[in-house]
Amino acid sequence: MCGIVGYLGNRDAADVIIKGLKRLEYRGYDSAGVAILNGKLAIRKAKGKVKRLEEILEDKPVEGGIGIGHTRWATHGEPNDVNAHPHQSQNKRIVLVHNGIIENYSSLKKELIKKGYSFQSQTDTEVLAHLIEAIQKDLDCSFEEAVQYALKQVEGTYGLAILNQDEPDKIIVARKGSPLLLGIGEDEYFIASDASPVIEYTNKVVYLDDNEMAIIKRTGYEVKSIANVPQNKKIHELEMSIEQIEKSGYPHFMLKEIFEQPQSLSDCIRGRINPEDQSITLGGLTDVWPKLEKANRIIIAACGTSWHSGLVGEYLIEHLAKVHVEVEYASELRYKEPVLIDEKDVLIAISQSGETADTLAALREAKSKGATVIGICNVVGSTIARETHAGVYTHAGPEIGVASTKAFTAQVVVLTMIALELAKRKGTISDEYYSEIISDLLKLPQKVTTALKEFDKVKEISALFTYAPNFLYLGRSFNFPVALEGALKLKEISYIHAEGYPAAEMKHGPIALIDEHMPVVVLTTLSHTNEKMISNVQEVKARKGRIIAVTMPNNREVEPLADFTLEVPSITDVLSPLVTVIPLQLMSYQIAVNRGCNVDQPRNLAKSVTVE
Ligand code: G6P
Repeated sequence: MCGIVGYLGNRDAADVIIKGLKRLEYRGYDSAGVAILNGKLAIRKAKGKVKRLEEILEDKPVEGGIGIGHTRWATHGEPNDVNAHPHQSQNKRIVLVHNGIIENYSSLKKELIKKGYSFQSQTDTEVLAHLIEAIQKDLDCSFEEAVQYALKQVEGTYGLAILNQDEPDKIIVARKGSPLLLGIGEDEYFIASDASPVIEYTNKVVYLDDNEMAIIKRTGYEVKSIANVPQNKKIHELEMSIEQIEKSGYPHFMLKEIFEQPQSLSDCIRGRINPEDQSITLGGLTDVWPKLEKANRIIIAACGTSWHSGLVGEYLIEHLAKVHVEVEYASELRYKEPVLIDEKDVLIAISQSGETADTLAALREAKSKGATVIGICNVVGSTIARETHAGVYTHAGPEIGVASTKAFTAQVVVLTMIALELAKRKGTISDEYYSEIISDLLKLPQKVTTALKEFDKVKEISALFTYAPNFLYLGRSFNFPVALEGALKLKEISYIHAEGYPAAEMKHGPIALIDEHMPVVVLTTLSHTNEKMISNVQEVKARKGRIIAVTMPNNREVEPLADFTLEVPSITDVLSPLVTVIPLQLMSYQIAVNRGCNVDQPRNLAKSVTVE
């Protein structure tokens, strides 16, 4: 979603900001803009990609060492030049960029209109620019105080960066609900929604927490609460490298990230499974194992692809550790009536970005009811990672493609390790079974490498189905969530309507859609559901559906029935999703490329969804 970049120092601010906004493009947006303060404020903004803004800047350059920039994902008001940020106050001396939503903007706007303020845009953000100006005038206070007073009146969420022409060497930033960090260089400062725009200049960052603001000047920075209490902030050292956020020769980030999985999975497992004695150590969970062992139930809350990994987690934890698991869409958790969450429950929030607003809200709700909350996040230092009692990082490395791939497999591996360790502690797993799963987990990077070798075959199949209007994905047990994930991947990036179903449910509706034009992807790798899957394949075949079967070398019974097969290496059933998802990721990628879609930045989608 929206992205913020700001700069104060001796470089050309517009250059730094444009480069930074490009790094944030993956978050999803529909317009972009920049404001540079060089004695006077200069603003350039436009609907469309950062490239368009760059062209405008070539035509009408702006120079200066202080500036703020923004990519906007429209919420209030359509994507157009006027609604693009930055927004100015009435006297044009205050200018700001904003992520989040000002929920009470309508009442604030009415008040401001009564005072004679007029509005150019349909955004909620513009209200804030006028409000700061009005407060400064009415109360005759400093810029900083005006920002504080304004933010006290605001309901909703914000990540903000503000410039004031009357204070030419200062940027004020503030955060509530939308992530913001401050990069600290040598005599220069960077502001960004995440670390990717900052990493090429400095690895030192300060994460702002909710209800905090920072006043950044050439002479230094100061962090305080909106209520004006100084905050002593830790400077974190980032471990991310610039190579990790570049494409390394791949045409798209998504393909790079799919092919990185052998590495991201070894990174996820490294230091956590001891190959000698097969023990599992998850340092971040040390204090909460007793809670997990005693938990009445485990609730998993997540959105999108992370919700699918949560579903795999449900099968894993129930099967191995015999604990009841409920997987909730984070956005719906709060509407459950009554939500009987209490201190005997454990909630696991799964989020690649660690910033998804609904997931954050769900964990806050569970925490307020006394539950122990655990995070499974990819982005180090993200809000969810910081607000949970305990957690496990997935260590998948930065994921830039909007369609999540390597984050999914890493989340499933973390859930597998949790399920196994819990099962061992509870005595619900035999030594032999534990050992069988651990040995396959240790071989996982190699097995994923083998699965990736099917890419050429995936390309051939994708060429035949590029213009299919619909796709159906069927799986049972551990592979049912993979069917959902395969369908999600396809619709996200190729805009083909696709549905994932538990295979037996096909008979209760989707079977009506099957004819010779319907490709049906069947996941037939599980030994314990094999016979039933074969029956489902027969049912599809009888209606002339085109069968693309994902099979394993030791389970090829479906091959004579299938129109096409994609093979993944043999693996114990519980780990099957980690290999069956690979050809589905590759197929959705290839079909999207064939259709000329923008794979890394699909229309209307955002990487990090920070509105509820
Ligand atoms: C967005 C992304 C998805 C992602 C979901 C949850 O919709 O486009 O790829 O799965 O958010 O994101 P999270 O960061 O919480 O895993």
